[in-house]
Amino acid sequence: MDTHAPAYDINPENVTEKVIASFSMETPRGRKLLTSLVTHLHGFARENQLTHDEWAMAVGFLFRCGEISSAKRDEFMLLSDVLGLSSFVDMTDAPVGATEGSVLGPFYASDSPEVAVGADLRPTHHGAGLLVRGVVQDAEGQPIQGAAIDMWQTGENGLYATQDDHVPDSAFRCKMACNEDGRFTFVTVLPGPYMVPDDGPVGELLRAGGRTAWRPAHFHFLIMAPGFRSITTEIFFEGDRYLGTDAVFGVRKSLIVAPHREGDRDIIDLVFRLAAAG
Ligand code: BEZ
Ligand code: FE
Repeated sequence: MDTHAPAYDINPENVTEKVIASFSMETPRGRKLLTSLVTHLHGFARENQLTHDEWAMAVGFLFRCGEISSAKRDEFMLLSDVLGLSSFVDMTDAPVGATEGSVLGPFYASDSPEVAVGADLRPTHHGAGLLVRGVVQDAEGQPIQGAAIDMWQTGENGLYATQDDHVPDSAFRCKMACNEDGRFTFVTVLPGPYMVPDDGPVGELLRAGGRTAWRPAHFHFLIMAPGFRSITTEIFFEGDRYLGTDAVFGVRKSLIVAPHREGDRDIIDLVFRLAAAG
């Protein structure tokens, strides 16, 4: 291959090198990532002898992802989720010794009510509910002082409060400062499974691939403490029929729990571990 050919003398053999050489990235990491991206992108087209129609279909798909995206909907993130890329990065860029991470999802809202340990997150407090008890520890299993959680989940109907006109937006989510011994508790309900938004191009992709849009029921948690790396994770429930087919590949064995019964109440015990920052 003649990489010294003039820039206008482009052919299938030298175009990859020409494109890579056209960038002058400031940082070695930026150069490495861009070089790799162009190499893999061209390699994909080369390996599959990509046709004009197929290339146009792919570009049109991305265009439609942009068209349906808004401040409230990120179709590109959903694409990353259903292709397992989000989960891949969650797993490979993970702090050692910490609880496994899982996808953030689009329903996180930073304005959850700040409530005290023991709060009832249900909009109507009838029945004993589900008691969630947890502790935040360091990588050696020692409780962390000053830890806090941010939790959001659907109701039993699989709807987040912001999607359900029958409950206040503040239901089934909270921010909570843990006790001095790293412990937190709240009362809630078991969430329901639900489908990721499938009325856009990503939904078409799922259907075309014979895949389901369902996610198993889950709690989302953000766990943080001063001096520690925060984690974003999820908790799933044993026996859920969608555990093996999560549309976004968020399930990890270590994140599946089984409620147990004490008296008139179902209880879930959780242990979260954080790794030291830096
Ligand atoms: C969720 O768990 O809320 C979610 C995660 C990824 C994509 C869509 C929804
Ligand atoms: Fe979710």
